[in-house]
Amino acid sequence: MFPTNLLFLVHTALLTTSYAAFLNVRDDETLIAGASLRAWNDLNTTIGGRLHVGEPFEKACFSTFNGNPINPDASACSALQQNYTNPLFRVQQFGAYMLPQWETCQATGDGCLLDSSNPSNPVAFTGVNCQNGNVPPFYIDVQTVSDIQAALKFSRATGVRLSVKNHGHDYKGRSSGKNTLSLWVQNLEASKGGTFTEDVYNFADQHNVTWIGGYHQTIGTGWVLGGGHSILSPVYGLGVDRVVQFKVVTPDGVYRTANECENSDLFWALRGGGGSAFGVVVESTHKVEPQLTLQAAIIRFPANSSNLFPWYNLTVEHSLRWAQNGWGGHIVGPTLIHVTPNLNASQAQVDMQAAIDYAVANGGTGIIDTLPSWNAFFLKYVTSAQAAVGPELMLGTRLISTELFNSTTGKQQLSNAIKDVLSFASPYIVAGTPFLMNQYQQVTSHIQAFRDITPGSGAYFNEGDVYEPDHEESYWGTENYKRLLSVKKKYDPHQSPHMLAVCWVEWGQ
Ligand SMILES: Cc1cc2nc3c(=O)[nH]c(=O)nc-3n(C[C@H](O)[C@H](O)[C@H](O)COP(=O)(O)OP(=O)(O)OC[C@H]3O[C@@H](n4cnc5c(N)ncnc54)[C@H](O)[C@@H]3O)c2cc1C
Ligand SMILES: *[C@@H]1O[C@H](CO)[C@@H](O)[C@H](O)[C@H]1NC(C)=O
Ligand SMILES: *[C@@H]1O[C@H](CO)[C@@H](O)[C@H](O)[C@H]1NC(C)=O
Ligand SMILES: *[C@@H]1O[C@H](CO)[C@@H](O)[C@H](O)[C@H]1NC(C)=O
Ligand SMILES: *[C@@H]1O[C@H](CO)[C@@H](O)[C@H](O)[C@H]1NC(C)=O
Ligand SMILES: *[C@@H]1O[C@H](CO)[C@@H](O)[C@H](O)[C@H]1NC(C)=O
Ligand SMILES: *[C@@H]1O[C@H](CO)[C@@H](O)[C@H](O)[C@H]1NC(C)=O
Ligand SMILES: *[C@@H]1O[C@H](CO)[C@@H](O)[C@H](O)[C@H]1NC(C)=O
Repeated sequence: MFPTNLLFLVHTALLTTSYAAFLNVRDDETLIAGASLRAWNDLNTTIGGRLHVGEPFEKACFSTFNGNPINPDASACSALQQNYTNPLFRVQQFGAYMLPQWETCQATGDGCLLDSSNPSNPVAFTGVNCQNGNVPPFYIDVQTVSDIQAALKFSRATGVRLSVKNHGHDYKGRSSGKNTLSLWVQNLEASKGGTFTEDVYNFADQHNVTWIGGYHQTIGTGWVLGGGHSILSPVYGLGVDRVVQFKVVTPDGVYRTANECENSDLFWALRGGGGSAFGVVVESTHKVEPQLTLQAAIIRFPANSSNLFPWYNLTVEHSLRWAQNGWGGHIVGPTLIHVTPNLNASQAQVDMQAAIDYAVANGGTGIIDTLPSWNAFFLKYVTSAQAAVGPELMLGTRLISTELFNSTTGKQQLSNAIKDVLSFASPYIVAGTPFLMNQYQQVTSHIQAFRDITPGSGAYFNEGDVYEPDHEESYWGTENYKRLLSVKKKYDPHQSPHMLAVCWVEWGQ
């Protein structure tokens, strides 16, 4: 055994110099992030040299890293500052997550973030120690099934926990994890696990079909594993309703096909059971629809302190009919963007007239735009309206039952609950580490009003509250949760050291 202070030095050295340099000067049995240098090195050889050191992508702006002086890289820093909230840039970096608080240890504030409202603000990085925080210290650039199998074997042998990252969109931080070995599946060959949503839309469009997916350019596999909401879901179902087959390496190391006939219990669990608990998905197959003509409603007005509540109240009034007519979309404050494949332009105009009239009366605009395809709609409206990345956002959700929209008292209850959170629920909450705890508590307590009026309903896992009370019931239903656990035990008989966000667990007590 090495004395504690040596281990500490070793750990620091690893993260501040290149791993290769480190190899030359240290003993093979030295422990690094939970495994010996020899074990890491063997793993790297087994996977063809695709083991990499994981570091926060903001590091280039800092002059201290994990407590040691380093030279900032001005041009790299400038590039990342300019693209700090650009998902297409962020998604290319292993050490960047869309919700950057998950790059950090929120318990302690250890991390390496810039000021998302002004990434050039020197206060964030001048004289500040950049720390690895919750960014995994090592990752595998996964390209083959055997890479995944090697990682599972390594994890069982060493006890090092695994995490799986695709495009890093997770709102619950499940794709990072201090001292985990990360499997970065983004570079799996195109048309398989690593594809971006916008590329699938484009590919489908070229083949005159429609793929039903999320409201963002770069969402990944986690989308379908956790449910998969599309604004076309009112008509065509969720992602989980449309996936036909997964190919997956289960935690026991076996590469399996899961569909309705083969490993159907696993197929069931993968469709919403959540994240990487049931394995690493290498490929998924989805149903498509023909090319769709869509009516889009684009309605917005300048909000002030008195015209926002009546607007939400109006949308509550019309929501049930809209849903029945195939409309789906988002209402973010005074902006509504909805689409339906089920109406023609004149029907759509009639259906949305009350909302359009309200916007116009409040100095805004409302149009019905007919688009020849989903991709045309996506390119014209979604890329500029999709959810922000870069700021530290946290979400809570509640599924509101149809019943509530179908009675006067139900609609009143819902309007009242919305009224109570309006001052709080600006489109998003921006907050700075390490003091996020209070914001998470506020999210939890504000969603409570919606829980109170929807007993027996649930919440959407992919966009849910980190502190969702009674989460087994809320996200899955208690009976389903028990069944999920039994599937987990079947395909993970060794109870492999799976991913947990250590910073998170320590803090979340
Ligand atoms: C800007 C933005 C917009 C969004 N819009 C929508 C939307 O319109 N509809 C919607 O339903 N949701 C939406 N979400 C939520 C989204 O569905 C989830 O964040 C989802 O988890 C993202 O998947 P990912 O693979 O990109 O994320 P990651 O953070 O990489 O992974 C998420 C989870 O899936 C696991 N995972 C990823 N890939 C694999 C794999 N190949 N095998 C096994 N496990 C894997 C990870 O371990 C983790 O648990 C949005 C999120 C963001 C940040
Ligand atoms: C893994 O091996 C490759 C090829 O030898 C090397 O370039 C890389 O630095 C190694 N990874 C680590 C983390 O040292
Ligand atoms: C970063 O942002 C700048 C300015 O917006 C842009 O010109 C550049 O192409 C971006 N870089 C990348 C890699 O996206
Ligand atoms: C898609 O439809 C267009 C117009 O009908 C047609 O010209 C084109 O050949 C079709 N493409 C494919 C791949 O079927
Ligand atoms: C809310 O909607 C209901 C039903 O349309 C209506 O009676 C009520 O006046 C509205 N309240 C506000 C404040 O707009
Ligand atoms: C829209 O559909 C309605 C109902 O089927 C029909 O009466 C109307 O003529 C259609 N309008 C257009 C512009 O196609
Ligand atoms: C909000 O805007 C509406 C429409 O322009 C206007 O009638 C109303 O007086 C405004 N309210 C406030 C508080 O500014
Ligand atoms: C709404 O309520 C009416 C009766 O009050 C019922 O007939 C109808 O089926 C309900 N609709 C939905 C969608 O629940």
